[in-house]
Amino acid sequence: MLDAEKLREDFPLLRESKVIYFDNACTTQKPKQVVDAIVEYYTKYAACAGRSLHKLATKTTEEFEKAREKVAKFINAKKSKEIVWTKNTTEAINLVANSFKFEKGDKVLTTNLEHSSGLLPWQRLAKKGVISLDFVLCNKEGELSIEDFEDKIDEKTKLVSVIFASNVTGTVSPLKEIIKIAHENGALVLADGAQAAPHFPVDVRKLDLDFMGFSAHKMVGPTGIGCLYGKEDLLRELSPFILGGETIKDADLRSYEPEDIPHRLEGGIQNYAGAIGFGAAVDYLTKIGMKNIEDYEKELAKLLIEGLLEVPNLALIGPKDWRKKNALVSFNIKGIEPQDLAIMLDENNIAVRSGMHCAYPFHKFIGENKGSVRASLYFYNTKEEIGIFIEKLKEIAKTLG
Ligand SMILES: Cc1ncc(COP(=O)(O)O)c(C=O)c1O
Repeated sequence: MLDAEKLREDFPLLRESKVIYFDNACTTQKPKQVVDAIVEYYTKYAACAGRSLHKLATKTTEEFEKAREKVAKFINAKKSKEIVWTKNTTEAINLVANSFKFEKGDKVLTTNLEHSSGLLPWQRLAKKGVISLDFVLCNKEGELSIEDFEDKIDEKTKLVSVIFASNVTGTVSPLKEIIKIAHENGALVLADGAQAAPHFPVDVRKLDLDFMGFSAHKMVGPTGIGCLYGKEDLLRELSPFILGGETIKDADLRSYEPEDIPHRLEGGIQNYAGAIGFGAAVDYLTKIGMKNIEDYEKELAKLLIEGLLEVPNLALIGPKDWRKKNALVSFNIKGIEPQDLAIMLDENNIAVRSGMHCAYPFHKFIGENKGSVRASLYFYNTKEEIGIFIEKLKEIAKTLG
Protein backbone atom coordinates (compact mmCIF):
# COMPACT_ATOMS: atom_id res chain seq x y z
CA MET A 1 0.00 0.00 0.00
CA LEU A 2 1.19 3.46 -0.88
CA ASP A 3 2.30 5.73 1.97
CA ALA A 4 1.93 9.29 0.63
CA GLU A 5 3.32 10.92 3.78
CA LYS A 6 6.48 8.85 3.53
CA LEU A 7 6.88 9.46 -0.21
CA ARG A 8 6.58 13.22 0.32
CA GLU A 9 9.89 13.09 2.17
CA ASP A 10 11.57 12.44 -1.21
CA PHE A 11 10.27 15.74 -2.59
CA PRO A 12 12.31 18.73 -1.37
CA LEU A 13 9.64 21.27 -2.40
CA LEU A 14 6.82 19.41 -0.67
CA ARG A 15 8.94 18.94 2.44
CA GLU A 16 10.05 22.53 2.68
CA SER A 17 7.00 24.47 1.56
CA LYS A 18 3.50 24.57 2.97
CA VAL A 19 1.90 24.54 -0.47
CA ILE A 20 -0.97 22.21 -1.26
CA TYR A 21 0.07 21.39 -4.79
CA PHE A 22 -3.00 20.45 -6.85
CA ASP A 23 -1.64 21.40 -10.29
CA ASN A 24 -0.13 18.07 -11.24
CA ALA A 25 -1.82 17.84 -14.63
CA CYS A 26 0.23 20.90 -15.56
CA THR A 27 3.48 19.55 -14.15
CA THR A 28 4.50 17.48 -11.14
CA GLN A 29 7.06 17.96 -8.39
CA LYS A 30 10.40 16.13 -8.60
CA PRO A 31 11.86 13.71 -6.07
CA LYS A 32 15.48 13.90 -4.91
CA GLN A 33 16.26 10.70 -6.86
CA VAL A 34 15.45 12.41 -10.17
CA VAL A 35 17.32 15.60 -9.31
CA ASP A 36 20.34 13.53 -8.18
CA ALA A 37 20.43 11.60 -11.47
CA ILE A 38 20.50 14.88 -13.41
CA VAL A 39 23.16 16.41 -11.16
CA GLU A 40 25.22 13.24 -11.49
CA TYR A 41 25.20 13.55 -15.29
CA TYR A 42 26.26 17.19 -15.19
CA THR A 43 28.91 16.75 -12.50
CA LYS A 44 30.33 13.27 -13.15
CA TYR A 45 30.16 12.39 -16.86
CA ALA A 46 28.66 15.21 -18.97
CA ALA A 47 29.41 14.50 -22.65
CA CYS A 48 27.62 13.64 -25.93
CA ALA A 49 26.10 10.25 -26.67
CA GLY A 50 26.73 8.22 -29.81
CA ARG A 51 29.61 10.29 -31.14
CA SER A 52 32.97 10.55 -29.37
CA LEU A 53 34.77 7.46 -28.15
CA HIS A 54 36.25 8.70 -24.88
CA LYS A 55 35.16 7.36 -21.49
CA LEU A 56 32.81 10.23 -20.62
CA ALA A 57 31.00 9.90 -23.93
CA THR A 58 30.80 6.13 -23.55
CA LYS A 59 29.24 6.52 -20.10
CA THR A 60 26.77 9.13 -21.45
CA THR A 61 25.79 6.82 -24.30
CA GLU A 62 25.27 3.94 -21.86
CA GLU A 63 23.11 5.98 -19.46
CA PHE A 64 21.17 7.63 -22.29
CA GLU A 65 20.32 4.26 -23.87
CA LYS A 66 19.64 2.70 -20.45
CA ALA A 67 17.04 5.42 -19.87
CA ARG A 68 15.43 4.55 -23.19
CA GLU A 69 15.21 0.91 -22.10
CA LYS A 70 13.58 1.92 -18.80
CA VAL A 71 10.96 4.06 -20.52
CA ALA A 72 10.27 1.27 -23.04
CA LYS A 73 9.83 -1.26 -20.25
CA PHE A 74 7.57 1.12 -18.33
CA ILE A 75 4.93 0.94 -21.08
CA ASN A 76 5.85 -2.64 -22.07
CA ALA A 77 7.17 -1.72 -25.51
CA LYS A 78 8.75 -4.64 -27.32
CA LYS A 79 12.07 -2.91 -28.00
CA SER A 80 13.83 0.15 -26.66
CA LYS A 81 14.24 1.44 -30.24
CA GLU A 82 10.48 1.98 -30.23
CA ILE A 83 11.07 5.01 -27.97
CA VAL A 84 12.02 8.25 -29.75
CA TRP A 85 13.04 11.12 -27.47
CA THR A 86 11.08 14.31 -27.96
CA LYS A 87 10.76 17.52 -25.97
CA ASN A 88 7.32 16.55 -24.70
CA THR A 89 3.95 15.13 -25.74
CA THR A 90 3.36 18.11 -28.00
CA GLU A 91 6.48 17.38 -30.01
CA ALA A 92 5.64 13.66 -30.16
CA ILE A 93 2.26 14.37 -31.78
CA ASN A 94 3.77 16.99 -34.09
CA LEU A 95 6.46 14.49 -35.07
CA VAL A 96 3.82 12.04 -36.30
CA ALA A 97 1.80 14.79 -37.97
CA ASN A 98 4.85 16.08 -39.86
CA SER A 99 6.52 12.75 -40.66
CA PHE A 100 3.66 10.39 -41.46
CA LYS A 101 3.35 9.74 -45.17
CA PHE A 102 -0.25 10.80 -45.75
CA GLU A 103 -1.72 10.44 -49.21
CA LYS A 104 -4.33 12.66 -50.80
CA GLY A 105 -7.77 11.75 -49.47
CA ASP A 106 -6.51 10.33 -46.15
CA LYS A 107 -8.67 11.14 -43.18
CA VAL A 108 -7.56 11.78 -39.60
CA LEU A 109 -10.21 11.25 -36.96
CA THR A 110 -9.89 12.98 -33.60
CA THR A 111 -12.22 14.29 -30.88
CA ASN A 112 -13.48 17.53 -29.37
CA LEU A 113 -11.85 16.60 -26.06
CA GLU A 114 -8.27 17.00 -27.26
CA HIS A 115 -5.64 19.24 -25.75
CA SER A 116 -4.36 21.84 -28.25
CA SER A 117 -1.33 19.56 -28.77
CA GLY A 118 -3.60 16.86 -30.15
CA LEU A 119 -5.72 19.20 -32.26
CA LEU A 120 -3.67 21.96 -33.87
CA PRO A 121 -1.17 19.74 -35.76
CA TRP A 122 -4.13 18.10 -37.55
CA GLN A 123 -5.88 21.42 -38.18
CA ARG A 124 -2.77 22.67 -39.97
CA LEU A 125 -2.53 19.57 -42.17
CA ALA A 126 -6.21 19.86 -43.00
CA LYS A 127 -5.83 23.55 -43.91
CA LYS A 128 -2.93 22.65 -46.22
CA GLY A 129 -5.17 20.05 -47.87
CA VAL A 130 -2.90 17.15 -46.85
CA ILE A 131 -5.67 15.36 -44.91
CA SER A 132 -9.35 15.66 -44.25
CA LEU A 133 -10.18 16.03 -40.57
CA ASP A 134 -13.21 14.62 -38.80
CA PHE A 135 -14.32 14.54 -35.18
CA VAL A 136 -16.00 12.25 -32.72
CA LEU A 137 -17.87 14.40 -30.21
CA CYS A 138 -17.87 13.42 -26.55
CA ASN A 139 -20.92 13.93 -24.37
CA LYS A 140 -21.17 16.88 -21.97
CA GLU A 141 -19.34 14.89 -19.31
CA GLY A 142 -16.39 14.26 -21.59
CA GLU A 143 -17.16 10.61 -22.30
CA LEU A 144 -16.39 9.20 -25.73
CA SER A 145 -18.62 6.48 -27.10
CA ILE A 146 -17.42 3.52 -29.10
CA GLU A 147 -20.50 3.65 -31.32
CA ASP A 148 -19.48 7.14 -32.45
CA PHE A 149 -16.04 5.85 -33.45
CA GLU A 150 -17.72 2.97 -35.27
CA ASP A 151 -19.84 5.48 -37.21
CA LYS A 152 -16.96 7.77 -38.11
CA ILE A 153 -14.14 5.37 -38.95
CA ASP A 154 -14.27 4.46 -42.62
CA GLU A 155 -11.94 3.15 -45.32
CA LYS A 156 -10.46 6.63 -45.78
CA THR A 157 -9.45 6.91 -42.13
CA LYS A 158 -5.69 6.57 -41.96
CA LEU A 159 -5.16 7.63 -38.37
CA VAL A 160 -7.23 8.03 -35.21
CA SER A 161 -5.61 10.55 -32.87
CA VAL A 162 -7.20 10.41 -29.44
CA ILE A 163 -6.64 11.66 -25.93
CA PHE A 164 -6.06 8.71 -23.56
CA ALA A 165 -7.09 10.53 -20.36
CA SER A 166 -8.62 14.00 -20.35
CA ASN A 167 -6.86 16.93 -18.70
CA VAL A 168 -10.25 18.62 -18.11
CA THR A 169 -12.71 15.91 -17.11
CA GLY A 170 -10.30 13.24 -15.86
CA THR A 171 -12.16 10.65 -17.96
CA VAL A 172 -10.26 7.78 -19.55
CA SER A 173 -11.01 6.95 -23.19
CA PRO A 174 -12.04 3.38 -24.14
CA LEU A 175 -8.75 3.04 -25.98
CA LYS A 176 -8.68 -0.72 -26.36
CA GLU A 177 -12.03 -0.74 -28.16
CA ILE A 178 -11.09 2.29 -30.26
CA ILE A 179 -7.91 0.53 -31.37
CA LYS A 180 -9.84 -2.64 -32.23
CA ILE A 181 -12.30 -0.77 -34.45
CA ALA A 182 -9.55 1.31 -36.05
CA HIS A 183 -7.45 -1.75 -36.88
CA GLU A 184 -10.46 -3.62 -38.28
CA ASN A 185 -10.83 -0.70 -40.68
CA GLY A 186 -7.15 -0.45 -41.57
CA ALA A 187 -6.49 2.71 -39.52
CA LEU A 188 -3.70 3.36 -37.02
CA VAL A 189 -4.11 4.89 -33.56
CA LEU A 190 -2.04 7.63 -31.94
CA ALA A 191 -2.81 8.18 -28.24
CA ASP A 192 -2.06 11.34 -26.33
CA GLY A 193 -0.76 9.66 -23.17
CA ALA A 194 0.17 12.84 -21.27
CA GLN A 195 -2.44 12.27 -18.52
CA ALA A 196 -2.44 8.47 -18.74
CA ALA A 197 1.15 7.23 -18.41
CA PRO A 198 1.68 9.08 -15.10
CA HIS A 199 -1.44 7.72 -13.41
CA PHE A 200 -2.11 4.08 -14.23
CA PRO A 201 -0.34 1.10 -15.81
CA VAL A 202 -0.16 1.42 -19.60
CA ASP A 203 0.70 -1.65 -21.65
CA VAL A 204 1.11 -0.66 -25.30
CA ARG A 205 1.44 -4.28 -26.42
CA LYS A 206 -1.75 -5.40 -24.69
CA LEU A 207 -3.53 -2.42 -26.19
CA ASP A 208 -1.92 -3.05 -29.59
CA LEU A 209 -1.33 0.69 -29.70
CA ASP A 210 0.52 2.11 -32.72
CA PHE A 211 1.82 5.45 -31.39
CA MET A 212 1.73 7.27 -28.06
CA GLY A 213 3.29 10.48 -26.80
CA PHE A 214 3.91 11.37 -23.15
CA SER A 215 5.94 13.84 -21.10
CA ALA A 216 8.42 13.17 -18.27
CA HIS A 217 7.53 16.35 -16.39
CA LYS A 218 3.99 15.12 -15.70
CA MET A 219 5.37 11.99 -14.05
CA VAL A 220 7.98 13.32 -11.57
CA GLY A 221 10.60 13.72 -14.31
CA PRO A 222 12.28 16.83 -15.69
CA THR A 223 10.81 19.32 -18.16
CA GLY A 224 12.07 19.36 -21.76
CA ILE A 225 11.95 15.61 -22.30
CA GLY A 226 9.22 13.25 -23.44
CA CYS A 227 8.90 10.55 -26.01
CA LEU A 228 7.05 9.13 -28.93
CA TYR A 229 6.39 5.42 -28.65
CA GLY A 230 5.79 3.76 -32.00
CA LYS A 231 5.74 0.20 -33.27
CA GLU A 232 9.10 -0.53 -34.87
CA ASP A 233 7.89 -0.91 -38.47
CA LEU A 234 5.70 2.19 -38.19
CA LEU A 235 8.51 4.37 -36.87
CA ARG A 236 10.64 3.20 -39.78
CA GLU A 237 7.99 4.45 -42.18
CA LEU A 238 8.06 7.98 -40.77
CA SER A 239 9.91 10.48 -42.86
CA PRO A 240 12.05 12.55 -40.44
CA PHE A 241 11.40 16.27 -40.68
CA ILE A 242 14.45 17.23 -38.63
CA LEU A 243 17.69 16.11 -40.24
CA GLY A 244 21.20 16.58 -38.90
CA GLY A 245 23.82 15.01 -36.65
CA GLU A 246 23.24 11.32 -35.82
CA THR A 247 20.31 10.91 -38.22
CA ILE A 248 22.48 9.40 -40.96
CA LYS A 249 25.03 6.65 -41.59
CA ASP A 250 26.74 8.34 -44.53
CA ALA A 251 26.39 11.44 -46.69
CA ASP A 252 27.61 12.84 -49.98
CA LEU A 253 27.04 16.34 -51.25
CA ARG A 254 23.66 15.49 -52.74
CA SER A 255 22.44 12.46 -50.85
CA TYR A 256 22.59 10.63 -47.53
CA GLU A 257 21.91 7.19 -46.09
CA PRO A 258 19.58 7.37 -43.08
CA GLU A 259 20.44 5.85 -39.69
CA ASP A 260 18.10 3.23 -38.24
CA ILE A 261 15.36 4.20 -35.76
CA PRO A 262 15.22 5.72 -33.22
CA HIS A 263 18.28 7.86 -34.00
CA ARG A 264 17.16 8.88 -37.47
CA LEU A 265 14.28 10.69 -35.77
CA GLU A 266 16.52 12.41 -33.17
CA GLY A 267 18.48 15.08 -35.04
CA GLY A 268 21.27 16.93 -33.23
CA ILE A 269 22.64 16.82 -29.70
CA GLN A 270 19.97 15.49 -27.39
CA ASN A 271 18.71 16.33 -23.90
CA TYR A 272 20.90 13.71 -22.18
CA ALA A 273 20.32 15.01 -18.66
CA GLY A 274 16.58 15.05 -19.34
CA ALA A 275 16.48 11.50 -20.70
CA ILE A 276 18.54 10.23 -17.77
CA GLY A 277 16.21 12.10 -15.40
CA PHE A 278 13.22 10.53 -17.19
CA GLY A 279 14.79 7.11 -16.59
CA ALA A 280 15.17 7.93 -12.89
CA ALA A 281 11.52 9.07 -12.76
CA VAL A 282 10.38 5.81 -14.29
CA ASP A 283 12.50 3.89 -11.75
CA TYR A 284 10.86 5.89 -8.98
CA LEU A 285 7.30 5.22 -10.19
CA THR A 286 8.03 1.56 -10.88
CA LYS A 287 9.31 1.12 -7.33
CA ILE A 288 6.03 2.48 -5.93
CA GLY A 289 4.06 0.42 -8.48
CA MET A 290 1.72 1.95 -11.05
CA LYS A 291 -1.19 -0.17 -9.80
CA ASN A 292 -0.62 1.17 -6.27
CA ILE A 293 -0.60 4.70 -7.68
CA GLU A 294 -3.83 4.05 -9.58
CA ASP A 295 -5.58 2.57 -6.53
CA TYR A 296 -4.50 5.37 -4.22
CA GLU A 297 -5.51 8.04 -6.73
CA LYS A 298 -8.97 6.43 -6.96
CA GLU A 299 -9.31 6.91 -3.18
CA LEU A 300 -8.29 10.55 -3.63
CA ALA A 301 -10.73 10.97 -6.54
CA LYS A 302 -13.60 9.64 -4.43
CA LEU A 303 -12.85 11.95 -1.53
CA LEU A 304 -12.27 14.94 -3.79
CA ILE A 305 -15.53 14.54 -5.72
CA GLU A 306 -17.61 13.79 -2.63
CA GLY A 307 -16.16 16.91 -1.00
CA LEU A 308 -16.70 19.13 -4.04
CA LEU A 309 -20.33 18.03 -4.31
CA GLU A 310 -20.89 19.49 -0.82
CA VAL A 311 -19.65 22.95 -1.81
CA PRO A 312 -22.61 25.32 -2.43
CA ASN A 313 -23.10 26.59 -5.99
CA LEU A 314 -20.30 24.46 -7.35
CA ALA A 315 -20.74 23.06 -10.87
CA LEU A 316 -18.58 20.04 -11.54
CA ILE A 317 -17.31 19.36 -15.05
CA GLY A 318 -17.22 15.71 -16.06
CA PRO A 319 -18.75 12.65 -14.41
CA LYS A 320 -19.67 12.68 -10.73
CA ASP A 321 -18.79 9.01 -10.51
CA TRP A 322 -15.19 8.86 -9.25
CA ARG A 323 -14.80 5.35 -10.70
CA LYS A 324 -14.81 6.87 -14.18
CA LYS A 325 -12.04 9.38 -13.49
CA ASN A 326 -8.49 10.14 -12.59
CA ALA A 327 -8.00 12.27 -9.47
CA LEU A 328 -8.54 15.38 -11.56
CA VAL A 329 -11.60 17.61 -11.34
CA SER A 330 -12.48 20.85 -13.10
CA PHE A 331 -15.29 23.02 -11.76
CA ASN A 332 -16.73 26.49 -11.38
CA ILE A 333 -18.38 28.25 -8.46
CA LYS A 334 -21.27 30.55 -9.34
CA GLY A 335 -20.46 34.22 -8.87
CA ILE A 336 -16.70 34.03 -9.24
CA GLU A 337 -14.44 33.93 -12.27
CA PRO A 338 -12.11 30.91 -12.48
CA GLN A 339 -8.99 33.12 -12.37
CA ASP A 340 -10.20 35.00 -9.28
CA LEU A 341 -10.97 31.76 -7.48
CA ALA A 342 -7.52 30.38 -8.34
CA ILE A 343 -5.88 33.53 -6.97
CA MET A 344 -7.93 33.32 -3.75
CA LEU A 345 -6.84 29.71 -3.33
CA ASP A 346 -3.23 30.65 -4.01
CA GLU A 347 -3.45 33.28 -1.27
CA ASN A 348 -4.25 30.30 0.97
CA ASN A 349 -1.29 28.32 -0.36
CA ILE A 350 -3.38 26.04 -2.58
CA ALA A 351 -2.03 25.80 -6.14
CA VAL A 352 -4.60 24.98 -8.82
CA ARG A 353 -4.92 25.82 -12.51
CA SER A 354 -7.53 28.13 -14.00
CA GLY A 355 -8.52 28.92 -17.57
CA MET A 356 -9.17 26.78 -20.61
CA HIS A 357 -6.49 24.14 -19.85
CA CYS A 358 -5.58 24.17 -23.57
CA ALA A 359 -8.97 22.59 -24.31
CA TYR A 360 -10.87 25.47 -25.93
CA PRO A 361 -13.33 23.46 -28.05
CA PHE A 362 -14.45 21.31 -25.11
CA HIS A 363 -14.98 24.29 -22.78
CA LYS A 364 -17.02 26.02 -25.50
CA PHE A 365 -18.96 22.78 -26.12
CA ILE A 366 -20.12 22.68 -22.49
CA GLY A 367 -20.77 26.44 -22.38
CA GLU A 368 -17.95 27.29 -19.98
CA ASN A 369 -16.57 30.07 -22.17
CA LYS A 370 -14.38 31.51 -19.44
CA GLY A 371 -12.84 28.16 -18.61
CA SER A 372 -12.75 26.50 -15.22
CA VAL A 373 -10.70 25.82 -12.12
CA ARG A 374 -8.88 22.50 -12.08
CA ALA A 375 -7.58 20.49 -9.14
CA SER A 376 -5.33 17.69 -10.33
CA LEU A 377 -3.78 15.38 -7.77
CA TYR A 378 -0.91 12.92 -7.68
CA PHE A 379 0.21 10.09 -5.43
CA TYR A 380 1.99 12.41 -2.99
CA ASN A 381 -1.18 14.35 -2.22
CA THR A 382 -2.97 13.45 0.98
CA LYS A 383 -6.54 13.11 2.20
CA GLU A 384 -5.80 15.83 4.73
CA GLU A 385 -4.93 18.24 1.89
CA ILE A 386 -8.26 17.47 0.23
CA GLY A 387 -10.03 18.26 3.53
CA ILE A 388 -8.32 21.67 3.78
CA PHE A 389 -9.09 22.41 0.11
CA ILE A 390 -12.79 21.59 0.46
CA GLU A 391 -13.14 23.64 3.66
CA LYS A 392 -11.52 26.62 1.94
CA LEU A 393 -13.88 26.32 -1.05
CA LYS A 394 -16.89 26.15 1.26
CA GLU A 395 -15.70 29.31 3.03
CA ILE A 396 -15.26 31.13 -0.28
CA ALA A 397 -18.63 29.91 -1.60
CA LYS A 398 -20.33 31.17 1.58
CA THR A 399 -18.89 34.67 1.17
CA LEU A 400 -20.36 34.77 -2.33
CA GLY A 401 -23.82 34.19 -0.89
C1 LIG B 1 -3.85 15.68 -22.30
C2 LIG B 1 -2.64 16.50 -22.58
N1 LIG B 1 -2.06 16.38 -23.76
C3 LIG B 1 -0.95 17.06 -24.08
C4 LIG B 1 -0.39 17.92 -23.18
C5 LIG B 1 0.85 18.64 -23.57
O1 LIG B 1 1.91 18.24 -22.78
P1 LIG B 1 3.33 18.92 -22.98
O2 LIG B 1 3.13 20.38 -22.73
O3 LIG B 1 4.19 18.27 -21.97
O4 LIG B 1 3.73 18.66 -24.37
C6 LIG B 1 -0.96 18.10 -21.93
C7 LIG B 1 -0.41 19.06 -20.97
O5 LIG B 1 -1.08 19.66 -20.19
C8 LIG B 1 -2.11 17.35 -21.61
O6 LIG B 1 -2.70 17.46 -20.43
